[in-house]
Amino acid sequence: MTAISDQALKESILDQFKTTRNRTLELVKTLEKDDFVVQTAVYMSPPKWHVGHVSWIYEAILSKLDKNYEFYSKEFSEYLNSYYQQFGVPNDKGARGIISRPTVDEVFQYFNNVNQRVQNFIKSKELSDEEIRLITMGFHHECQHQELLVYDLQHLLADQYRPVKKSERKTPVEIQQKSVHIKGGIFNLGYNGSSFCYDIELPEHKTYLNDYKIDTAPVTNKQYLEFIEDGGYEDYKYWLSDGWEAVKKNEWTSPMYWEKLDKEWKVRDFLGLRKINPNEPVCHVSFYEADAYCKWAGKRLPTEAEWEKAACWNEDKQEKTVFPWGNENPTDNRANLLESYQWCCAEIGSFPEGISPYGCHQMIGDVWEWTSSEFIGYPGFKTGFDEYNDKWFANQKVLRGGSFGTPKMSIRASYRNFFRLDERWLFSGFRCAENA
Ligand SMILES: [Fe+2]
Repeated sequence: MTAISDQALKESILDQFKTTRNRTLELVKTLEKDDFVVQTAVYMSPPKWHVGHVSWIYEAILSKLDKNYEFYSKEFSEYLNSYYQQFGVPNDKGARGIISRPTVDEVFQYFNNVNQRVQNFIKSKELSDEEIRLITMGFHHECQHQELLVYDLQHLLADQYRPVKKSERKTPVEIQQKSVHIKGGIFNLGYNGSSFCYDIELPEHKTYLNDYKIDTAPVTNKQYLEFIEDGGYEDYKYWLSDGWEAVKKNEWTSPMYWEKLDKEWKVRDFLGLRKINPNEPVCHVSFYEADAYCKWAGKRLPTEAEWEKAACWNEDKQEKTVFPWGNENPTDNRANLLESYQWCCAEIGSFPEGISPYGCHQMIGDVWEWTSSEFIGYPGFKTGFDEYNDKWFANQKVLRGGSFGTPKMSIRASYRNFFRLDERWLFSGFRCAENA
């Protein structure tokens, strides 16, 4: 293990830590105290819990790095442990909203106390590569919860939420809905950059692809409405067996958050109750709905390798980049991510500067895109933190690309998100692929 003494590196870590912690505070800054405690569904969490849990994970990390580490409080650990059996029996997730202690004020005191503990640790010694990796994982974990918190805030408050920052929406350029032909062969799947990535993005490994076609844009509301109006939700023949069961059991007739009022489809989100915008990517669909649409359209979902190649492989230069546009970090002109502060999907054609070498639009940001790939470890997978990712290697599908709720620092083309096949409370959409 290499000891790193570089002061500049240490300052950069402290800087990333402060930026990440401040973003959590900014997201909850305008909430009323009453908002902090409410859990609107079993799959949601109260804002108070997120504020505490993102702090607790740093304690879990510090306890791995320092054998003598003492947790702040047993009671806090029990409430704030999400699912890590190695740290005791976690509280029931669906019951997070019925617990009034620790109080909101106590959780903020805890947030500040953990800030001090982490900063003291970083300042106290020369950090090894492993210490840097795990502390950095804490920032990325916090980013994941910031996005989950945004989902929860939409469910809890919708347009009653008052974001600290809000930006003007982009004016899209007109683009043609089409698919692009991609040559198959050996493709190196996985992260090959030099910054942080999760264990599940490694190791980069060879995979074989046949020639295929992939849409240059995600499926839009307009396209998805055609599926609805053609009786898509009423005909079993488009659906996987489990998907058809989910349609009947949950009485699905449209994406989540859609309502039919006066014979017109509307959506209720951060912008309020508004008419469906035909040019936005469809959002809040489950894997089953994405798969059914593809079948109806005579297409299929891409595999995650097909998605990644379309996003970041440059055929002319024979090189892979971290993002569709190259290796530079995301900017507001390239992708709609959390710090774009749009609080909704951008219309198709809003980011011509963000296209991939194959001409695919909006692969980063706006909506997570379902793929047909099972969420399992890559060949040669080694866990980077027990129970974090590896215990979910069953019954989940991979989504790629990030959404308008994803913080900029936490997304790249190789990032693998995962959800169960019937979940649709995330900002999830898809694009179609075809055999060439
Ligand atoms: Fe977590």
